[in-house]
Amino acid sequence: MNSRFGIFPEQASNFSGEVDHLLYFLLAVSVFFTLLIFIAIFYFAIRYRRRSENELPHIVHGGMALEILWSVIPFGLTMVMFAWGASIFFNMNRPPDDAIELYAVGKQWMWKIQHMEGQREINELHIPVGRAAKLTMTSEDVIHSFFVPAFRTKADVLPGRYTVTWFKPTKVGKYHLYCAEYCGTKHSGMIGWIHVMEPQDYQAWLSGGPGEGSLASRGEKLFQDLACGNCHKADNTGRGPNLVGIFGRTIELSGGGTIKADEAYFRESILNPTAKVAAGYQPIMPTFQGLVTEEGVLQLVEYIKSLTPAPRPGIGAGTTPALNKQAPKPEKR
Ligand code: CUA
Repeated sequence: MNSRFGIFPEQASNFSGEVDHLLYFLLAVSVFFTLLIFIAIFYFAIRYRRRSENELPHIVHGGMALEILWSVIPFGLTMVMFAWGASIFFNMNRPPDDAIELYAVGKQWMWKIQHMEGQREINELHIPVGRAAKLTMTSEDVIHSFFVPAFRTKADVLPGRYTVTWFKPTKVGKYHLYCAEYCGTKHSGMIGWIHVMEPQDYQAWLSGGPGEGSLASRGEKLFQDLACGNCHKADNTGRGPNLVGIFGRTIELSGGGTIKADEAYFRESILNPTAKVAAGYQPIMPTFQGLVTEEGVLQLVEYIKSLTPAPRPGIGAGTTPALNKQAPKPEKR
């Protein structure tokens, strides 16, 4: 919440300070060299101006020291920018294991958020202060971009794949959420609010939910409605692989190669099942493209993940025990 005029948005996440400090450094270097170059231009223009009609310049054959100096200094400065920027970039791309997991689907023109505990929101996201939140995101149509200026985070949201962003809010408040990728007529209306709450308020908000059951349990219902269990049997007798304990494992593929069983692999296997078939199985699974929405796929993915008992990222390793109680228990099938 920031109604006063400011050059920079509020600093409200773990990244805000880091990103701003890097930006200040870039600005300082740019301003310093801009001034240096312009002052030198004017100084040389006056100092070495032509003083008479037939004046000839001295021939200069180069200066090694000068050459080295003006190569090494910019190289050093740009390497500092590179290393500093890369370290922030890597940090932004590595969500901590104890992050709260959330799912976001972008579509023309709204943000749909799903919480593990089952709450669903549109153009709003409630999260507790001081705890990392990880968003797994996809799009139902075109490219969008999840942008929270106060958090200094921006991540593209692409159709056909999952992207991840994370942040740890440091300040209770209400912050703008924007779409930062032109996505059609009402792109500018694809906006929302991030509500950063005190942990106890967040707990109260969670428990005031719609009571539709957790994300995983909705996924389980979908799993049953789509009759996935007819082939994916838990006793390894099905025509498809047993999904219990599969999340995070390395899968041998028929035709050679391996793949890590992660969210993206589950999604691909639901929508394009013959792309990467597990070794020992036939490519007989039909596609569920068009039968399940992206939100439904996320529910199925979360259900399959819940079949692998903790510890798994996002659950179990949390620093707030009260929150972990909300985690869905692995369902037995
Ligand atoms: Cu979605 Cu712009």
